[in-house]
Amino acid sequence: MERLSDDDLDESAKIHRLTFPFAAISQLGLTVTERYHASLLARDDLVAFAAFERSRLVGFCFGGTARDVEGAFLRDNLSFIASQILARPLLLTQPFIRQRIGAGLRFLRPQFASGSSAPPRPEERADIEAVRSFTLLYVAVHPAFQRRGVAKQLLEHAEQHARSEGFGRLELSVYLNNTRAIEFYEHAGWQRLVQDGEWLGFMFKSLH
Ligand SMILES: CC(C)(COP(=O)(O)OP(=O)(O)OC[C@H]1O[C@@H](n2cnc3c(N)ncnc32)[C@H](O)[C@@H]1OP(=O)(O)O)[C@@H](O)C(=O)NCCC(=O)NCCS
Repeated sequence: MERLSDDDLDESAKIHRLTFPFAAISQLGLTVTERYHASLLARDDLVAFAAFERSRLVGFCFGGTARDVEGAFLRDNLSFIASQILARPLLLTQPFIRQRIGAGLRFLRPQFASGSSAPPRPEERADIEAVRSFTLLYVAVHPAFQRRGVAKQLLEHAEQHARSEGFGRLELSVYLNNTRAIEFYEHAGWQRLVQDGEWLGFMFKSLH
């Protein structure tokens, strides 16, 4: 499997917007999403794998040890984001964007990019800090190419990479209403991380 490259960014951004339509980055438009992917690719604490069918990018996966990538991107690109919003004032009618702005750009808070909420507090993570974790930030497959094993290949590749880099565990967070992805991960051997009897969307897979 190949690594995602700068040449793939226009397509990866399109897939991002199709597969995460309600995410803040997607709502901000293709240009922002493409720039976001470029910022992820430029990080040395993330790797990105790409799946192709007949030379067409059909899926990607970002993972690594990075935290708060979305917040870092938004902080570093505030004026650009503001210009995009001003150029498309209709964005302000989107409840999601309004909510973010109304909260004083609270979307700058740390979070797992694909997750439903903040990651576990340090004390809650005590049990998972003993091993190095490789976090999957995004796994996405173009809707026209889903249910053909593309994500399975991406996951297997990410897992292989994490093992070879000495990580003991994979982890991710998923929106609680993303039942499709949850079923997919469970099917691939992932478990829910239940904290105080409650599941907040965090999942893990031990590599031992
Ligand atoms: C979740 C997602 C990545 C799955 O991609 P995909 O390419 O369709 O998945 P695959 O075809 O590789 O499925 C792999 C296995 O999981 C199973 N699977 C896939 N979707 C499933 C579902 N909804 N329920 C149960 N099993 C499922 C497949 O049957 C397959 O099983 P098999 O190996 O026995 O054949 C894709 O639906 C997607 O991009 N969703 C939007 C983005 C997203 O939510 N990403 C996850 C959060 S980061």
